[in-house]
Amino acid sequence: MSNTEQLILRAWRRSDISSLVRYANNRKIWLNLRNIFPHPYTEAEAGRWIAICESNQGRLTNFAIELQGEAIGGIGYRLLDDVNCKTAVIGYWLGEPFWGRGIATAALKQATDHAFQSVSLERLEATVFEWNPASARVLEKAGYVLEGRLRRSIFKDGAPGRFVALCARPSLIGLVDSISLPEAALDECITLKTPKFAAHPISSWNCVEQATGMIVPHHAEPKHPAV
Ligand SMILES: CC(C)(COP(=O)(O)OP(=O)(O)OC[C@H]1O[C@@H](n2cnc3c(N)ncnc32)[C@H](O)[C@@H]1OP(=O)(O)O)[C@@H](O)C(=O)NCCC(=O)NCCS
Repeated sequence: MSNTEQLILRAWRRSDISSLVRYANNRKIWLNLRNIFPHPYTEAEAGRWIAICESNQGRLTNFAIELQGEAIGGIGYRLLDDVNCKTAVIGYWLGEPFWGRGIATAALKQATDHAFQSVSLERLEATVFEWNPASARVLEKAGYVLEGRLRRSIFKDGAPGRFVALCARPSLIGLVDSISLPEAALDECITLKTPKFAAHPISSWNCVEQATGMIVPHHAEPKHPAV
């Protein structure tokens, strides 16, 4: 992103419908999102989405990612309930012409700060499909930490796959620049005792695969304390 470009997170508007259809109607985007994100992404779907955002109260917070006056993507978080009531799940997408310029990372940092400032959270998490290292890298750059892989936990486009779970905690990020976190802080957050993150996205991706395979064999699932 150049210094002169202005990135804003703001509420979705009716006037965003045409840009929403232009950028969201993309199979490459759909493949990396939950099925609630439709494909093809028609004007009717865009209208429905804006209506949901307009009427929303409570657990869901959604922003349009606006660059130079145009909505080019979306980002939002949803508060869970019951025993997960201190956890929110964050998700995002960006129009393909804008990929690779650091925009999703900048938007994610802003939305993460917003979540921690607006809601009392113990945990903000994101789940990434295993075939999406770009998104995992975006999360890492914004201070999220890999926790492990949930085997055969998703079914997308006719095939099963894995979720990779990353999480952020208020003590680790929020207004802090995650990239400068001391390694000790990262260690503390890695539930499965994965090796420290390497600087390169691919190597950290692979090393978590090895570590989780080693540390969580099927016969050694943690037991509930009451059992
Ligand atoms: C994932 C997505 C949000 C990334 O947006 P973006 O603005 O291009 O992301 P950024 O430019 O901030 O960062 C992308 C990073 O991924 C890296 N990357 C891209 N492709 C990669 C790949 N195949 N393997 C590893 N890293 C990759 C880039 O090099 C960059 O990291 P760097 O800054 O260390 O070089 C965008 O591609 C998208 O919307 N995809 C479809 C929807 C989606 O995946 N949403 C997330 C669901 S969890």
